[in-house]
Amino acid sequence: MRRPQRRAPIGRSLHARAERYGPRGETSRVASLTSRERAGLRSVALAPRLYGAAADLTMLSLPARCLLRPPRRPLPAPSRRGSSRPGRRWLLSTPIFYVNGPPHIGHLYSALLADALHRHRGLLGPGPGRLATGTDEHGLKIQQAAAAAGTSPSELCAHVSGLFRDLFSRAAVSFTDFIRTTEPRHRRAVQCFWAALQGRGLLYKDFYEGWYCTPDECFLTQGQITERPDAQGRPCKVSLESGHQVHWTKEENYMFKLSEFQEPLRKWLQGNQHVISPEPFYQVVLRWLEEDLPDLSVSRERSRLQWGIPVPGDSTQTIYVWVDALVNYLTVAGYPDAHHAWWPAAHHVVGKDILKFHAIYWPALLMAVGLDPPEQIYVHSHWTVHGQKMSKSLGNVVDPVACFKQYTVDGFRYFLLRQGVPERDCDYYEEKVIKLVNSELADALGGLLNRCTAPSINPSGIYPHFSESCFRKGSDHMDVEASGRALAEDYELVASVDCLPLQVTDYFEHFQIYKALESVVACVRQTNGFFQRHAPWKLCRDNPAEKCWLDTVLHVTLECLRIYGILLQPVIPATADKLLSRLGIKPEERAFTDLTFLPRYHGKPCPFEGRRLGPDTGALFPRLETPRRRQLEIKGLRP
Ligand code: MSP
Repeated sequence: MRRPQRRAPIGRSLHARAERYGPRGETSRVASLTSRERAGLRSVALAPRLYGAAADLTMLSLPARCLLRPPRRPLPAPSRRGSSRPGRRWLLSTPIFYVNGPPHIGHLYSALLADALHRHRGLLGPGPGRLATGTDEHGLKIQQAAAAAGTSPSELCAHVSGLFRDLFSRAAVSFTDFIRTTEPRHRRAVQCFWAALQGRGLLYKDFYEGWYCTPDECFLTQGQITERPDAQGRPCKVSLESGHQVHWTKEENYMFKLSEFQEPLRKWLQGNQHVISPEPFYQVVLRWLEEDLPDLSVSRERSRLQWGIPVPGDSTQTIYVWVDALVNYLTVAGYPDAHHAWWPAAHHVVGKDILKFHAIYWPALLMAVGLDPPEQIYVHSHWTVHGQKMSKSLGNVVDPVACFKQYTVDGFRYFLLRQGVPERDCDYYEEKVIKLVNSELADALGGLLNRCTAPSINPSGIYPHFSESCFRKGSDHMDVEASGRALAEDYELVASVDCLPLQVTDYFEHFQIYKALESVVACVRQTNGFFQRHAPWKLCRDNPAEKCWLDTVLHVTLECLRIYGILLQPVIPATADKLLSRLGIKPEERAFTDLTFLPRYHGKPCPFEGRRLGPDTGALFPRLETPRRRQLEIKGLRP
């Protein structure tokens, strides 16, 4: 369903390089149906992109309604996006986290988004993928935090970096590399990168003065600051964007000729309309590029900042922490010796507060050393707590480890990814997590599994047989006679679950994981409706006709659950494993190529039919309780 288009020519000079970032060939999704599709015929046109050659294409059913969803922005050409193509490499990254304080749920969210994308792509088929995360350990902020804590910067870094690493391991973030910017491999990469900038004549020394914001580690222009009273009511200059205090600074720095990249950056963005998702953030960056783009200070005087990588050949200067930090993406790719296999297959997940660094400074720095900008920048918004920004001073910073204890790892992963909408800030509070997780994981999904595997309903404990005569592959399923015992709603269920894998993949590729989960939940609810409608517990096993239908209802339900289990693996890996194991699905049967739903309905053999279910290891997901403390608060019995 894609129209290939020509790519822009490749040039060598700076401006020719910009040309190279020109139109990469947009495609449009076919919104109107062909007559074949209208007739409800099965189409596999999208399948090779998503499933690779290994998929059994004939079994991928795409009912017409799958194609009816209105297009958002047109899908990008597979040549740049669609990292799901077999054999394609991807290098996903989280931002690297400052070590001036312990991790909170906002940090975890960044990491979980990247993890879910990474796991999802891993399931799509062969194609080497990496997921890098780590800690950002240099800079004034860390130097000051260590001094305030009465410890050395290196001790502080080792301790807090360990907290992040432990958190991500506990959260099942499937990182393949954890980089610390204090590692020798990174120091070498940064110094080589600096030498490359210098070698191309893109650095110069100058006296620089302006407002510096240490918490954000950046210089700000007069227009980016405002005045607010501090805690003591004294007037104080703060960053308009972050609200953090700024200080006037004047020193001799190295400057990067960022202004020379305004036009190349514009061309790159205009030619790659999907490079920044969601789309509103892309527009934000374009607007930034309409304003002045002054040169960027890329070093600090060593007398002020000792905790950082020295400028090669100039012991009076330390490399600016953001240049140091951004180069981490190259370090993990193997820069300066072995990055060509992985660069520019970089896909960065970043919070909206650091968009300018990733969408302007970083691509410009890369172009400056002759490297391509990243392939994709996924941007997310922030978590607030009870409607307020998280901050140490408000004492409302939420500890993710405490959340895991309260809601379980998968429960909290599910909450953040299901409720987190990248386009806008989202609010966390306890009742919301409990309500969502109980209703969707414990009741809807867990309840369904429990009901259709209960010994009272399925005493033999096998994946029962599907009967074509009970559930006919109907052309006219309004005719009960013709369709056995299946009703029109049952056919709707089959159509919905048939569509689901493509929908989910499309949502993942558009960085709308919450929507992918929404569509899975809608199907889970539809399946519960199916089960309830046919009340298999009322059917008599001793009557052969009833048994046939009972088995078919169970078979369809188990098939639905199998599809949901596979699709949920990137988000709730442990729960999905429990679900699939209970169904008796082997680990090697859980890839996206195994997403052929209800093959028996399509006249194909089903490998699971007649197979023994896995052992019952208890409820799929425990119902969460509102803590007694909160119950009292809600009833107004506790302040
Ligand atoms: N060290 C820099 C990133 C350098 S990447 C080359 C940094 N670190 S950070 O620790 O402050 O933030 C890391 C990530 O956490 C950012 O993507 C940021 O947006 C995210 N979050 C910080 N607070 C957040 C929320 N309250 N909610 C969601 N994410 C937030 O910036």
